[in-house]
Amino acid sequence: MRDAVARDLAGARERTLLLTDLDDPLLVAQHDPLMSPLVWDLAHIGQQEELWLLRAGDANRPGILPPQVDSLYDAFKHARAERPSLPLLPPVAAREFCHEVRGRVLDALERIPDDAGELFAAGMVVQHEQQHDETMLATLQLRQGPPVLHGQPVPRGRTLDIDRVFVAGGEFVLGVDGTDEPFSLDNERPAHRVDVGPFWIGRAPVTNAAWQDFVADGGYHQQKWWSAAGWTHRIQAGLERPEFWTADNARRRFGLLEQVPPDEPVQHVSYFEAEAFAAWSGARLPTELEWEKACAWDPVTGSRRQWPWGSAEPAAQRANLGGAALRPAPVGAYPAGASAYGAEQLIGDVWEWTSSDFAPWPGFMPMIYQQYSEPFFGGDYKVLRGGSWAVAASTIRPSFRNWDHPVRRQIFSGLRLAWDA
Ligand SMILES: [Fe+2]
Repeated sequence: MRDAVARDLAGARERTLLLTDLDDPLLVAQHDPLMSPLVWDLAHIGQQEELWLLRAGDANRPGILPPQVDSLYDAFKHARAERPSLPLLPPVAAREFCHEVRGRVLDALERIPDDAGELFAAGMVVQHEQQHDETMLATLQLRQGPPVLHGQPVPRGRTLDIDRVFVAGGEFVLGVDGTDEPFSLDNERPAHRVDVGPFWIGRAPVTNAAWQDFVADGGYHQQKWWSAAGWTHRIQAGLERPEFWTADNARRRFGLLEQVPPDEPVQHVSYFEAEAFAAWSGARLPTELEWEKACAWDPVTGSRRQWPWGSAEPAAQRANLGGAALRPAPVGAYPAGASAYGAEQLIGDVWEWTSSDFAPWPGFMPMIYQQYSEPFFGGDYKVLRGGSWAVAASTIRPSFRNWDHPVRRQIFSGLRLAWDA
């Protein structure tokens, strides 16, 4: 277990250093008011690692940085828009700080028992770093200017003969416990039985081609497809198409202008747009309970699978993860990644909006990082599931819950449809 955690820490760091291997002006600039300067993310990764693994989560314990510098990286004290005006560590100092913390952490890891409970904080820190790597990719997507990243090829798609799969009604086990998933976060726990009525769910995420039909049909201009809040937002924000699309069917992706690929899952749509698209399609968004059942439940054995396809690790033929592709793979690219019900591309490619508000499961207990989930329950947040092409395998599970405001679309967000049975 300890070796696996050390490997995941190393993997996360390799990715962080690759994503921040940029000229200083690019690291220091704020590319969008929604995002931090990349150099903030970088030092914040080290600061959180030190806080949870070397200072036992107590910010009053002395650390490597002077207290007034340390507190610059407290996400609760400084809103993103304010971060570029803070006296942040310059890139060289931020890298040195992260390196210093990591050296001490690896020494400390050797001294704790090789036990999942003891290693939980380290597993949490791995996920924190990988989440910031995804956030930094969202920042680099928002950035204007020539490409600095270059994507790896993805597998070819295939035509799907049916567009939806049936999920019979009945109980299933929602959520996980530490015994099944030692590094699952507080909001994924505990495992508990829930009854879900029968439903149909999209075999694959909604494609760009389908979204182009919605645009061409005037979907953005017909109020009847939109919720009241969604329509108000659409008007105020002047939404006409997904973020980064142009009026002539091109899109900007990491500094490249390219034709929108029709068979790729749509991304950079908000919850409000997803909800309107679903209504236009004669469908709806799945609840997160439906989504998780379609992803993880095996109706034959009456038990959960670790991954949609079973217990094998997420290899390149099963899911588009890890961020190297810089894009979702086309629909149909992962027949080997299908769930027990036959739904594909649930893990990786695009985060999928669900109709659910972010709330605790019954029996919720906050983890050591008590502010991770609890302050966001009951707020204006919708849950997204399944992870995008930009998440790491160590940071996604069928039970993993992400949440965001219903207007957000700089994230790698798409959707999958559902229908009542
Ligand atoms: Fe963070």
